[in-house]
Parts: sequence; structure tokens; C-alpha cells
Amino acid sequence: MATQEMHSQCVGYSLPVPNVQALATSINKSSLVPERYVRPEAKVEPVASTDDIELPIIDMAKLIDQEFSNEEASKLHLACQEWGFFQLVNHGVPEDLMEGLKVDITEFFSKPLEEKMAYKQDNDGTIQGYGQVFVLSEEQKLDWCDMLYIMTRPVALRNMKYWPTSPPTFRDNIDRFSLELTKLASCLWNYIAKNVGVAPEVFAQLFKDHPQVIRFNYYPPCLEPDKVVGHSPHSDATGISFVLHVNDVQGLQIRKDGEWINIKALPNAFVVNLGDITEILSNGIYKSVEHRVMTNTENARISLASFQSPDNSIMLRPLPEVIGDGKPNYGSISYQEFMKAFFDKQLDGKSVVDTLKL
Ligand code: OGA
Ligand code: NI
Repeated sequence: MATQEMHSQCVGYSLPVPNVQALATSINKSSLVPERYVRPEAKVEPVASTDDIELPIIDMAKLIDQEFSNEEASKLHLACQEWGFFQLVNHGVPEDLMEGLKVDITEFFSKPLEEKMAYKQDNDGTIQGYGQVFVLSEEQKLDWCDMLYIMTRPVALRNMKYWPTSPPTFRDNIDRFSLELTKLASCLWNYIAKNVGVAPEVFAQLFKDHPQVIRFNYYPPCLEPDKVVGHSPHSDATGISFVLHVNDVQGLQIRKDGEWINIKALPNAFVVNLGDITEILSNGIYKSVEHRVMTNTENARISLASFQSPDNSIMLRPLPEVIGDGKPNYGSISYQEFMKAFFDKQLDGKSVVDTLKL
């Protein structure tokens, strides 16, 4: 119970908002996007080029194969340093599970609004459920997106009231998938630790119990896509994140060298990115890169994002093994305080991690 309380304290609340999927189907060519969704900054910061950029590809099968491991681990290091993002292929998550879960997610979002609202956020302090997060005022601009947000690990902290019972395979597939992601994260941590000069046991300890949440995102198409933002610019306040493109509709953009670029993901690859926690632990060797999601006129984008977090009780600070004889580039803060700061404000780029820079 104590742990449950700690989790609820650290994640805050979010105001209820209109359902965007319903809104998107109700507006037509003669009506406009409501003011609350109009985002001038999307125009101010347009994508630098309409070309889709392919992220570095990391092959998990090679990473764990003695013959290729060193070479692939070097590629991983470079991808983490230069991009903060990569695509993970040959990851070993069973094909039938990937396909089954994708069908379940798509079916869930295609259900009538009343059915989805059975899982709506309940202001229980954990921001789990169907709705939106980071909404703290009635004046605030809103993202063109609905989401279902659930805590999946540790298993003892699951609140099944937010887990849809239909489609009937959904819960079981989420459970299996959650474990697969945990295994992938553990494996990646080993190589990331070695790449930044830390014993793998240090990362294993920091991420023990593998706290994990999953967000299922539904970005409806929009007749005026230049006016709205699907997902506000942000970096992830996690150790490591996995994004799965559920229906292969692109829209993810990352900020590289100051400019927004379109990312194209290979089918069934995970788009993996390092979060703020890893940036701090690694003393900035790796950066958590800002990203956002834009919409289009034709197709809904459906994605799954899963965040792998450290143990709730840790102090966040650059690891001494990484600092060596150098200086820390970030101050220290408890993980709980960091998360409180993250959820107590609108999504706003990398502002929380920036406050810790020395
Ligand atoms: C996120 C995120 C990207 C996407 O949920 O943090 O960046 O494509 N999602 O949905
Ligand atoms: Ni993100």
C-alpha cells in the first residue's frame, strides 16, 4: 500500500477534456477546429523538410550474438549519442503477439464512445484511464489525441478497472507484451551500461522491479492538420521508451540539431528513445531528445508508447562511475520529486531536466 500511495502522490492529476475522436468526426468542412486546439506554434516551428528520415537501426539478434555483439553495441552507442532515438529490429517479440495486440488496440478505439468511457480517468491521483494527461487549466491548449494510460508493472500495482475487457484477448495480450518489453529493456540496459562505462548491475539495481506504464494513443485525422498538434513537444521522463506503430500511419517528429524532422518507422520495429532519467544518470553523454506528433487529413494514427522507469525510491544524479574525475553536469533530485515536477505542468519541451543543469 505504501508503494501505491507513493505512486499516486508522484503522478498528480489532469482535468477532463472533450473526446477528440468524437470531435474530429463532428467537425466538417464548414466548421473550424475549436480554438482550444489551434496551435500557432505549429506554424512557427514547421518541419524542416517533408522527407521522412529513417532512424538508425539496431539489430537485437546481433547485439546478443557473440560474433556481432561488439560491433552492434558500438552502433547502439553512436545512435544513443547522435540521435537519442533508434529503431529496434529482430527484437524477438512473437509475431502473433504483436499482431494480436495491434488488432485489439484498433478494435478498442473503434468502439462507441460510451464503451470507451467505461475506462475513463477517475481522478484517483494516478492519471490512469481513458482521457488525456498534462491538462491543468481550462485555458490551456489541447493536443489532438485521446489516450488510454495504464500502469502495467509492477504487477501488484495494476488497477484492472482501467484494463478493457473487450476485445476479450486485450488484457492477456497487454500482460504478455508488458513482460516482453521488460525483457527487452533489461537487455538494452546491459549494453547501455557498458557503453557509458558502468557495471550492468548498477543499472539492474536502479531499474529493479521494472516500473512500466503503457499509453495507447489515438490521433484522429484533422481537416486542418497545420493548426493542431497531436502530441505537444516533450522529452520522456523515463529511463527508456518504446513506441510501436499500431497502424503504420507516421507522424512522429524529433528535434534534431534544432530542427523538426519526420521519422519513418519500419513495420513492427520499436522506435526506442532514451528518457530524461538516462540523460541525468549518464551525465548527459546521452540526451533525451524532444519529439512531437503531427496529424494528417486522411488517417488516424494509432500508436503504443511504453515507458520503463527506475525504482520509485532512487535519487536521480549523474552516476559517479560516469563522472570519473570530471564534473557532474546535473544536480540531484529524488525521482519522486522529479516526476511531480513533470506532471505538475503542461508538457513543455525539456524544461524539467533543464532545471537540473549545472
Ligand atoms: C509519448 C510519445 C509518440 C507517438 O507517448 O510519449 O511520444 O507516436 N508518443 O504516439
Ligand atoms: Ni514521448
